[in-house]
Amino acid sequence: MSNVFNIGPGKACGWLGLGLLLLSGGIQAKTEEEAKAQIKQDLIGFCSDCHGRNGVSELKNVPNLRAQPPEYLKAQLLAFRSQQRSSSFMDAFIYQINDAQIEQAVAHFSVQPSALKGKPAWRGEKWPGDMAAGEQLAYVGNASANVPACVACHGPSGIGVEPGFPRLEGQKPQYMINQLKAWQAGKRPPGPLGVMSAIAKSMTDDEIVAVSHYFAQLGGEQ
Ligand code: HEC
Ligand code: HEC
Repeated sequence: MSNVFNIGPGKACGWLGLGLLLLSGGIQAKTEEEAKAQIKQDLIGFCSDCHGRNGVSELKNVPNLRAQPPEYLKAQLLAFRSQQRSSSFMDAFIYQINDAQIEQAVAHFSVQPSALKGKPAWRGEKWPGDMAAGEQLAYVGNASANVPACVACHGPSGIGVEPGFPRLEGQKPQYMINQLKAWQAGKRPPGPLGVMSAIAKSMTDDEIVAVSHYFAQLGGEQ
């Protein structure tokens, strides 16, 4: 039996096993057969190796899934499965996941509680002026570079707005940085509204880092 994981029909690669090993150091590498069997028997356990059972990942490049709008999670899984969005880790198995399993995973992760400290806030009372760079971008944006306030779409404190605006509060900062850079480089599809490519391209590296860490720490991520 091969120890190699197949990425989709015709593309052979050891990514899943390698990915699990590299990501965690502790998680056992899986063969394709083992992964298939686990997906069938314990789908959520399979996802949880990387994303955490409560939707809180222990790995800095792997997003937290807790409390995300269900429609958003579903749209991203469909985008991975149709190869519009790409990740070597997700690509390795997503072609095996059927519609019912997508619904099952979305139902599990979308209802895991968020870790927002305090109540969602617009923070309009501090506007404008006395905020640190990340907070200022989140609540005010940067009009001179056409960067809108993130909370206008992502909701107060970045808690997300159904159906299509993901929660940023408590997301892994390195993951958010990676996504904004992927949009700058044209490597993530623009999404239904097509807005994030333009927003990311209008941001400097320093702004991307500052705003990602701002939203992350609102939900206890550093
Ligand atoms: C081998 C590790 C691994 C496994 C197993 C895994 N994922 Fe992922 N997943 C990732 C990584 C890494 C990303 C981020 C990809 C990127 O940077 O674009 C991701 C991204 C996602 C996203 C996009 C999140 C967002 O905020 O846009 C969703 C949804 C998702 N995974 C769901 C799942 C589900 C459901 C399962 C189980 C069926 C699963 N994943 C199994 C590693 C994994
Ligand atoms: C006009 C509405 C709008 C504004 C303003 C906006 N976003 Fe977004 N953002 C979206 C949408 C829609 C998505 C989901 C895209 C998709 O479906 O792929 C998104 C997704 C994201 C993601 C990916 C999250 C994930 O889980 O993968 C990040 C990170 C992000 N936005 C950061 C920001 C930041 C930082 C700002 C402020 C500088 C901002 N956004 C302003 C609409 C907006």
